[in-house]
Amino acid sequence: MLVRPATAPAEATLTIWFDGVAAPARPGDSVAVALLAAGIMATRTTPISGAPRGPYCMMGACFDCLATVDGRANVQTCMTPVRDGMQVQTQRGAASLG
Ligand code: FES
Repeated sequence: MLVRPATAPAEATLTIWFDGVAAPARPGDSVAVALLAAGIMATRTTPISGAPRGPYCMMGACFDCLATVDGRANVQTCMTPVRDGMQVQTQRGAASLG
């Protein structure tokens, strides 16, 4: 049985920037969805070993998708909707709370 969506997927009409590289995004996407669709799998590194981490649960539970967004650290990219021109940077290690 073929199940068709009620509406066609939105076009990627927005652009976000990840570490200076453009990534297309669709209105309504989360930052994590847009980055994964662009092939970007890691958004942070761990504080101890520096191992890369990226979105996992996609529902705000695991915190593996943290990144710096528009200068703000510790942003859960899976819970943050895209905005045209958004600047996202890899969060390296633990972010300062200050
Ligand atoms: S992917 Fe788990 S909190 Fe964002």
